[in-house]
Amino acid sequence: MIPQPIPIPIPIPSKSPRVVATSISPTSQTFHDRLRHRDSLAALGAIRQPKVLHPVENEDLKLLLLENISQDAVRYFQAQGFHVDHYSKAFSEDELVERIPQYHAIGIRSKTKITERVIKAATKLLVVGCFCIGTNQVDLFTAAKAGIPVFNSPFSNSRSVAELVVSEIIALSRQLFQRSHEMRAGIWNKQSQGCWEVRGKTLGIVGYGHIGSQLSVLAEALGMRVIFYDVINIMPLGSARQVEKLSVLLGDADFVTLHVPELPETINMISKQELEQMKEGSYLINNARGRVVDIPALIDALKSKHIAGAALDVYPVEPGSNGSPFDDQINTWATTLRDVPNVILTPHIGGSTEEAQRMIGEEVSQALTRYLNYGSTVGSVNFPEVDLRAISAEQGTHVRVCHVHNNQPGVLRQVNDILSPYNVEKQYSDSKGDIAYLLADIADVSPTDVNKLRETISHTSANILTRLLA
Ligand SMILES: NC(=O)c1ccc[n+]([C@@H]2O[C@H](COP(=O)([O-])OP(=O)(O)OC[C@H]3O[C@@H](n4cnc5c(N)ncnc54)[C@H](O)[C@@H]3O)[C@@H](O)[C@H]2O)c1
Repeated sequence: MIPQPIPIPIPIPSKSPRVVATSISPTSQTFHDRLRHRDSLAALGAIRQPKVLHPVENEDLKLLLLENISQDAVRYFQAQGFHVDHYSKAFSEDELVERIPQYHAIGIRSKTKITERVIKAATKLLVVGCFCIGTNQVDLFTAAKAGIPVFNSPFSNSRSVAELVVSEIIALSRQLFQRSHEMRAGIWNKQSQGCWEVRGKTLGIVGYGHIGSQLSVLAEALGMRVIFYDVINIMPLGSARQVEKLSVLLGDADFVTLHVPELPETINMISKQELEQMKEGSYLINNARGRVVDIPALIDALKSKHIAGAALDVYPVEPGSNGSPFDDQINTWATTLRDVPNVILTPHIGGSTEEAQRMIGEEVSQALTRYLNYGSTVGSVNFPEVDLRAISAEQGTHVRVCHVHNNQPGVLRQVNDILSPYNVEKQYSDSKGDIAYLLADIADVSPTDVNKLRETISHTSANILTRLLA
C-alpha cells in the first residue's frame, strides 16, 4: 500500500458561535495540553485540515534520482506515493536521452547535464531538482520554455563553509599543515616563530551574505575583530563593522576571506594590486569561487612572503571526478602552487558535510513535492515564484489549475472565460521573462468536468503546460 502523506493542520480562526475563544497561556499549559486543546477544536470544526492534493492524471509519478542522492530523499518521495529509481552514478547525455522519456521528475547533483537535447527527449518531465548549490548543469532557459521549473538548495551549506573557514584561520596562523607534513616525513620541528593566536586579530570578510555573516559571528566568538566589505549596505552582526572600500579592508585585515559570487566584476577581484594592498604577513582564504583570485599573482605574493599563507578550496578549473589529478594540465600553475609552504589546498569541500547534504536532500525533495502536488514554484531558479494557500480538506470538490504559458497579452482573459462557469476561489499569476504561471483554485468541479477543464485550457493559444491537482 502506498503510504499517504500526513497533512499539517492549519489553524483558521473560526467565526462559528459554537466555538468559545480561549487564550492559551504557555505558562499554565504543557505542550500536550495545547495539542489536546487543538484536537478538541479540530473536533468542533474550528481547525481546518489542508487537503492533500495530487495530480489528477491517472499515471503514477516516476522519479529518477542520480548521483547517489540521499536515501532520506528517496524515503520522502516514496512516502508521497511516487515511484523512485535511484542510481549512484551520473548519466551521460545519451543515457539520459534514452531513459528520461518515462520520468516525471529528475534529481541530480552537479555532474549530470540537463541539456537542450535531454529536455527535448523528456516528454513527461515536469520538474528538475538540483540536489546541490549550483544550477549551471541545467539549460535553465530551455527548461523554462518547456514548462519545467528547476529547484536547488543554495544556502543549506552556509554553516559548513563558515566552520571550515574558522578552522583554516587557526590552521594558517599556527602553520598547522606544515608542521603536520614535517611530522609525517619524520621531522621534529617545534617552533613558535610566525605562529599566532587569532584572538585580537582582524578578520576581513569580502561578501557579507549567508556565509560571510555566519562566519562573522563565529569569528567574534573567537575574540577576533571583524570588518567586512559588501556592495550593498548590510546591518552588521555583533560588533562587526562594514567598510566602504575593498582597499580599506585589505589594508586593515590580518586574514582576508572571500565570500562573493562569481560575477564579471568579481573575477580576479584579488589580483596583484589587491595582494599588494594586503598587510605584510597577512593571510588569504578563498572558499567562494576559483576565478575570484588571480592564482599566479597569489603564488608570487606567497613566494615573496608578503602573504604569510593561503587556504584555497576552489579553483578556476576543477577535476571532474574523485581520483582525477590536480595538475598542470587543468591549471598551468598547479605544481608550483602545491610546492609553496603554508598553503592549504582542499578539493572544494567547503559545503561537504553530512549535515549540509541532509539539509539539501530535505529542502530539494520538499520543493519538488510542493511543485508536483501543490503547484508551488517558490524557490525555483528559472520560473516566476507562485503559490496559493492550501485548499482545506472540507473543500472536497475543489481543484487547483496550474497553467504555465507564454507571457503574452490576453491569456488570463482566455483562461478566465473557461473558468467562468465555476467559482474561482483564489488565483495568482506572475511572469519571469517569456514564461508566466497561473495558479487558480476552482470550487465545485465535478469529477467528469476535471478532464474537460484541463483539455480546454491546454488548447489555449499560449499554453505550455496545464496540470490539474485535486
Ligand atoms: N566552497 C564551497 O564548497 C562553497 C559552498 C557554498 C557556497 N560557496 C560560494 O561561496 C560564495 C558566497 O556564498 P553565499 O551563500 O554567502 O552567497 P550570498 O549570495 O548569500 O552572499 C554573497 C554576498 O556577496 C556580495 N557581493 C556580490 N558582489 C560583490 C562584490 N563585487 N564585492 C563585494 N561583495 C559582493 C553580495 O551582496 C552578498 O552579500 C559563493 O560564491 C558561493 O558559490 C562555496
